[in-house]
Amino acid sequence: MITTLIDGIGLLYTGDPEREEIGDAALVLEDGLIAWVGPASEAPAADTRVDVAGRGVIPGYVDSHSHLVFAGDRTAEFKARMSGRPYTGGGIRTTVAATRQAGYPELAARARGLVNEMLAQGTTTVEIKSGYGLSVEDERRSLEIASGLTDETTFLGAHVVPAGMDADSYVRLVAGEMLEACAPYAKWVDVFCERGAFDGDQTREILAAGLKAGLGARVHANQLGEGPGVRIACELGAASADHCTHLTTADVDALASSATVATLLPGAEFSTRSPYPDARRLIDAGVTVALATDCNPGSSFTSSMAFCVALAVREMRMTPLEAIRAATYGGARALRRTDVGWLRRGARADLVVLDAPSYVHLAYRPGVPLVHQVFHHGLLL
Ligand code: NIG
Ligand code: FE
Repeated sequence: MITTLIDGIGLLYTGDPEREEIGDAALVLEDGLIAWVGPASEAPAADTRVDVAGRGVIPGYVDSHSHLVFAGDRTAEFKARMSGRPYTGGGIRTTVAATRQAGYPELAARARGLVNEMLAQGTTTVEIKSGYGLSVEDERRSLEIASGLTDETTFLGAHVVPAGMDADSYVRLVAGEMLEACAPYAKWVDVFCERGAFDGDQTREILAAGLKAGLGARVHANQLGEGPGVRIACELGAASADHCTHLTTADVDALASSATVATLLPGAEFSTRSPYPDARRLIDAGVTVALATDCNPGSSFTSSMAFCVALAVREMRMTPLEAIRAATYGGARALRRTDVGWLRRGARADLVVLDAPSYVHLAYRPGVPLVHQVFHHGLLL
C-alpha cells in the first residue's frame, strides 16, 4: 500500500483528547486511513511526501445537522425578518410546497450541490435530514436522495404538521406508515419538539416508534423557547439534542448526566436574529458540545462550518480550541462515530490543510476562505 507523509504542519489540531495539539507536526496516510500522527522530527519514512509549508491542519469538519433535500427559496422571508418580523418555523410549509412540486433529479442535484459546497469548505462528514416532504412518498423520496449522499440520514417526518391535516392523525402516520417507508433509508429519527410543532407526548411517541424500528434518536429541542425536548432527548438516550438555545438548570443538569450531546447551531440564531445559546454554561457543566450548520433554506442557509466556529467564539463564549473541538470531535460524538472527527491512528484520513498556521485563524479571520486543501478518505479533493 502507498503511504503519504504530510509534513511541515504548523499546528496540528488532532481532535484526539489524548493529544489535541501538536506543533511542527506530521501525519502519515495509508489506504485512506491515518497510519501515524506526531512531531515531524519523529515521522517515519513514506512513499510520497507533501510539505504543507507551515500551514495548520484540522480533521475534516463533522456537520451533524443539516436539511439539504429541498427546493425553492426563502429569501423574502429572510428579508422580512431582517426588517423585524420574528422567525416562527411556519415558513417550513413554504419549502414543503416547493419540495413536493420538484422532480427527483432536481432535488437530488440540489442536495448534491450543497454536499459538494460543504466538501470544498472542509466538511467531510455530513448528516442530512428529511422533513420537507411530510407525506409518505415525499419523505421516502427525500431520504432515498439523502442516503445516496451520506450514511448519516435522519427521518424528520415530524418537522411540522402539514397543511390540511390534524395533529393526531399526522403523528399516527409518522409513527406508522411513514416510518415504515423511511426506515430502510434512515439511521436516525428526529422530531421538532417545540410549541407550534410537536409537544412532549407526540415527541415521545414518534421517537419511541423510531427506536423500536432500529433507528437512533435525535431531537430538535428548545430552539424557540423552553420546553420538554432536551429532557426527553436525555431520557430516551438520544445521541444529540439540537439547538439548546433556551435551557433551564434542569435541562443543563439532564445533559450533564447523560450521554446526549448538545449540538449548537449558531447559524440559526444569526439568520433569525435571535439570542445565541450559552455554550459556556454547557461546557462548564461538563456537557459535550457539537457545532453544526443546520443548513436549510429557512433558518440557516449557510454550509460553512468555519462561519459557525467564528460565531461560537465571538458570540457563545467558546474558546477557539473548544469551537474547533465541537466542530470535529463533538460532531462525531453527536453521530456516535469513532472513525471520523479526529486524526489518530486508524481513523479515516479526512483532513483540512488551512491557509493559516493554526485553527485559531478560523475565528481570528472570520469570513476569509482559509481552506488550502481537503483530503477525503485519504484522497486530495
Ligand atoms: O433546525 N427548527 C426546525 N427546523 C429547522 C428550520 C427549518 C426551516 O425553517 O425551514 C431548524 O432550524
Ligand atoms: Fe434543524
